[in-house]
Amino acid sequence: MALDSSSPSQQPESFGELFDAADPARRAAFLRQEIARHDRLYFVEARPEIGDADYDALYRELEALEQKHPELAREDSPTRRVGGAPQSGFASVRHDPPMMSLDKVHTRADLADFEQFLRRQIPEIVCTYVVEPKVDGVALSLRYERGRLVRAATRGDGETGDDITANVRTIRAIPLRIDTEAAVVEVRGEVYMPKEGFAELARRQEAEGQPPFANPRNAAAGSLKLLDPREVAQRPLQALFYASGALEGIEFETHAEMTEQFRRWGLPVAPRAWPCADMAAVMAALDELEQLRHDFAFEMDGAVLKVNERRWYAPLGATARSPRFARAFKFAPERAETRINSITVQVGRTGVLTPVAELEPVPLAGSVISRATLHNADEIARKDLRIGDAVWIVKAGDVIPAVESAITEKRTGREQVFAMPEACPACGEPVTRADGEVAHRCVNPACPARLVARLEYFAARGGLEIEGLGGKVAEALVATGKLHDPLDLYDWSVFDLAELNLGEGDERRLLGGKQAEKIVNALQAARGLPLARWLVALGIPGVGETVAAQVAAAHADFRALLDSPVLKSVVRLAELTEQAAALNPRARHRRGVDDGEEVVQAFEAVCREIEDVGDTLVAQGLARRTDRKSRPARYLTEIKVEPARALLAFAASPWGRRTAARLAELGINPAGTPPADTTNGPLAGLTIVITGTLSQPRDAMAGLVRQAGGKVTDSVSRATSFVLVGDAPGASKINRAEALGIPMLDESAFRARLEWGVSDQNPESNGR
Ligand code: IVH
Repeated sequence: MALDSSSPSQQPESFGELFDAADPARRAAFLRQEIARHDRLYFVEARPEIGDADYDALYRELEALEQKHPELAREDSPTRRVGGAPQSGFASVRHDPPMMSLDKVHTRADLADFEQFLRRQIPEIVCTYVVEPKVDGVALSLRYERGRLVRAATRGDGETGDDITANVRTIRAIPLRIDTEAAVVEVRGEVYMPKEGFAELARRQEAEGQPPFANPRNAAAGSLKLLDPREVAQRPLQALFYASGALEGIEFETHAEMTEQFRRWGLPVAPRAWPCADMAAVMAALDELEQLRHDFAFEMDGAVLKVNERRWYAPLGATARSPRFARAFKFAPERAETRINSITVQVGRTGVLTPVAELEPVPLAGSVISRATLHNADEIARKDLRIGDAVWIVKAGDVIPAVESAITEKRTGREQVFAMPEACPACGEPVTRADGEVAHRCVNPACPARLVARLEYFAARGGLEIEGLGGKVAEALVATGKLHDPLDLYDWSVFDLAELNLGEGDERRLLGGKQAEKIVNALQAARGLPLARWLVALGIPGVGETVAAQVAAAHADFRALLDSPVLKSVVRLAELTEQAAALNPRARHRRGVDDGEEVVQAFEAVCREIEDVGDTLVAQGLARRTDRKSRPARYLTEIKVEPARALLAFAASPWGRRTAARLAELGINPAGTPPADTTNGPLAGLTIVITGTLSQPRDAMAGLVRQAGGKVTDSVSRATSFVLVGDAPGASKINRAEALGIPMLDESAFRARLEWGVSDQNPESNGR
């Protein structure tokens, strides 16, 4: 767009914009740099300058620009972090120099001996030291050639690792470019999952019925092994760099200088490191580091002591496994001794029985621990834990308390072996254990414990987010005997709810009008929430937030989901692929079976059907063909087969049918988020910004816009068609809309527009 000097109100947002508005190539370059800078501020330096919405606006602008001008798209663009087809495996990478390990010491005295050790190697050595945290993650090597990230590899056996470039590119803390002309810069460090991200992932996995990782290290390693970079991008991975591999065209005198250069390049480095003149300083640094043990975002299992002056590295040399210039010092693992007072059993929303150790409260790593999940009966048997045992407890990933082992020397003979109850502790119905399953389950759909858990889940974060409907209230609701399904909540009036008795025994303590009103209002507002949130709320086993979002993106609304050709296609594709594998003449030939023409023809027919079903999904944007040549053709579907099966089973089950009927009765049909039909619908082709409080939550209003063919963005620009303005709107959006002369509509004008397409009122006369 040409700049118009006669309209002074159209202020360019920045210098970059001023120069680049007319030149898409420069604008794209500017945006790439800005996004990289904000990634760095956010992910590396933890001091963001802009909010998510503004970041998204930059990102989307770049995306649109690159789509419009494909010649501008570049490998190191932030829009290309997640790209490339899923892989069938990882290629091998040779490390030169090899990725070495470190010699470990376990006592401070051994560490202090390092000085004498160095002197024995090189009598005339004069050096200083650096102490750094030892990160418990997965070792990684990055190779930059002339500043461009060209390869990322795992350590493997030190000589050869896996090429995980596609996966590592999705880690936004890792720059795709660094500012250097050096021919080769290899940096080595660690990928880790921040403790908080790990806890969140564990929560998500548990909710989706997947076994969670045991600790952040396993979570990081497991994530990097995923074959689909899009899945890796969903994992909260971080990285940190502390060593070099091959260097060409660049040198560093000291370790401190090197890490400082890493930092300037935007590579994350340890948040603290201690330069030390001598061993006394090293010991003081260790004290400080040990104090900070639990304060870092990553798990730290010790310290690393390094010679600072790199000129000694080559003369010191290495043993078979480790360089002689450094030592790892492992902190003693933090454990606490306590006692299992009892083992209780919790019943979850899917009926799974989870044994929980009720512990004598004990402080550990910054908090007091009184309970720890024991997961299942097998786990208790494997560890031979008994009620009354003295036990060691640890924190998995510094966050989740776990019983490590029983201290058997302390057994008195009065300990009791735990047995899973045969009847559900909540409803008394028999407990079952399916073949091959570790979990014991209560299968009584009316079990009050399951209902309480389902209610809590219905109202929880990611679900309908109804505040005030947790623990006690859910229990009291179920105890009335008048609620058999979360959807029954819609039958309760403010008046009925206010009378809900939360007291225990004879005590009478009512919920009260204010709380009741809040809950009822939240339930009404939830009617307009998008399909993804409703799917989570319903608590269908195997359908958590990730799956719900994928499914919602492929369906217009809840009703469309009940008889979904898409889900059926996904399942069909999986079945056909299995059939094809069984019929594949080449594979059979290898196994020594030689078939007649019939099998070959059957195989061909299955292959054709695979392509029919697969290509239809591809055309709908719901699958990608991952291999152009293979036969049978291979596809990667947006929605995976297990959740597709789970949803079809739900729809066909009495529960699913009841739920569908209830929702229809209540007039609730949550909208999905399929790519908008931008050629039809009353808002086709329009870009809308929403600000302020409206009659429905923002998500719901955005859903309406999308259903009508419009697009919602977060910040006002010249591309904005109009701003939908509610109560207490954002001042900056209003100012910007005014400055750019963008129309503003209040909710009634917006609704008229939805109904009639083009409003015949002058939108500027609405309100403001
Ligand atoms: S230096 C040539 N520094 O711990 C050796 N390693 O147990 C380069 N590690 O192999 C390693 N934090 O994977 C170094 N600050 C740190 C570290 C660190 C964690 C890992 C690394 C190493 C292993 C040895």
